[in-house]
Amino acid sequence: MSDHTTSYPSDQPINGLKPLSNADNNISLPATGDDLSRLGGDRPEAFANGLSLQEMDDEDDEEEVDEDYVAVDHEDVNEYPYWFRRPPVHHRTKLDELHPFVQVLTGSNVEDCVNVETAFPEQERCTREKFMYRLNKCPELCLGLFTLPIIPEGQPKPRPTLVGHIVATRTSGPNVTDKSMELPANWQNERMCVQNGEVIGHDEDGATIAIHSLAVLPEHQGKQVASTLMKSYIHRIREAQIAERIAIIVHDHLIPFYESFGFENRGPSKCQFAGGGWSDMVLEFYHE
Ligand SMILES: CC(C)(COP(=O)(O)OP(=O)(O)OC[C@H]1O[C@@H](n2cnc3c(N)ncnc32)[C@H](O)[C@@H]1OP(=O)(O)O)[C@@H](O)C(=O)NCCC(=O)NCCS
Repeated sequence: MSDHTTSYPSDQPINGLKPLSNADNNISLPATGDDLSRLGGDRPEAFANGLSLQEMDDEDDEEEVDEDYVAVDHEDVNEYPYWFRRPPVHHRTKLDELHPFVQVLTGSNVEDCVNVETAFPEQERCTREKFMYRLNKCPELCLGLFTLPIIPEGQPKPRPTLVGHIVATRTSGPNVTDKSMELPANWQNERMCVQNGEVIGHDEDGATIAIHSLAVLPEHQGKQVASTLMKSYIHRIREAQIAERIAIIVHDHLIPFYESFGFENRGPSKCQFAGGGWSDMVLEFYHE
């Protein structure tokens, strides 16, 4: 090794760069104009890494421990390997074809929701009046996934089509109850309806969001609409920190579907809505 080690004096750094030396007494990277002229003329065998041919051979035989380190600002670390990253692979799905967007529902979406609700068997459907009530009382708890076809430039945009919805109210207990699903008779004139000490319908002080309907238009089922909508819904509620939990009643075949979002199965529900046979499922935001 020592046969090939020659230190070059570093006179004036090029562009103000400090010479990066592998180790004292070893050949260093050219740092000055003087160094460069030396490498170009007298030492054609030197490589850009500053090592001679012989040293390159030696390197193959035994790995040298680099004793000098270059300090890297951790804030910049993520910027360095961008050329290693592959662009995210996205395979187009049936959901993409809908050009979906998610938006809070309002009283103007009542007929859209009535249409989507046909996904349920008749006895389980929410009535038009209940949609009017829920979308007017607590639109912030009701979310829709819409589709809008791509139309040629200059043509008027059609009204977006509601493909799937989540409609909910608040309740004070930990689960969905029959009372929380009811329609208060005088809801347009009263802020809240209380009967025998129990709130009927939406309890604006309730810490539980009770989902009364998750439905997707039959022709768009199986395209991940419900999953996308549910993920978006949970994310919004969690981020806004506006509830302690989300509760829903479900039939057995959908228990794994809700478990995939973090809902826990709390067993048979007391709800007798549409003949009963429901299980309570709850997603808790605060476990402690
Ligand atoms: C249940 C419903 C909302 C699902 O909507 P969707 O957009 O088709 O659901 P997704 O495409 O996001 O399905 C995702 C997963 O949910 C599960 N799933 C969906 N529908 C299911 C069903 N009918 N039975 C069992 N699992 C089902 C599957 O695991 C599915 O995964 P996969 O696509 O890998 O098979 C829809 O079928 C519907 O509107 N049904 C009628 C109303 C209803 O029953 N709502 C639920 C009230 S609790």
